[in-house]
Amino acid sequence: MSVNMTNILLEAGTNELEIVEFYLEEPNPSGGEPYRGYYGVHVAQLLQISSIEVYEVASFYSQFNLEPVGRFVLEVCRTGPCCIVGAERLITRLENSLGIRDGETTADGTFTLKTVECLGACGYGPVMQVGDQYYENLDEKKINALLEHFKNMD
Ligand code: FES
Repeated sequence: MSVNMTNILLEAGTNELEIVEFYLEEPNPSGGEPYRGYYGVHVAQLLQISSIEVYEVASFYSQFNLEPVGRFVLEVCRTGPCCIVGAERLITRLENSLGIRDGETTADGTFTLKTVECLGACGYGPVMQVGDQYYENLDEKKINALLEHFKNMD
């Protein structure tokens, strides 16, 4: 998608919100979730704001990705209540199992590990979100089973 594409869509009667939604749904070239930050420059031009304003929003909210992500984005809560019940230990376990650090993607593009702020399920920690699904009361055994589950998905 380019600025020229934006102009074409505007001339065709597409409104600005629809164009922003179109950018947000643009597929990730690596096959994972859309990585919305890539289109920040276009969104800024469309909304007539500076790129840094788009970056400020995109870098604040963990729902936005500033670079390509893997097929499965493992978002692990790192806020206090989850840490008290073992989130840090599970994050270390995931880093060791996947061979990546927080914010990185495996070389095969399967997994991205992200630590995030409270997911709103504090009573069920440690908590991890993958797509629309929450995984709660996690321990090492459950993490291992989940990794195998994701690896074997078609
Ligand atoms: S502290 Fe982890 S879900 Fe709220």
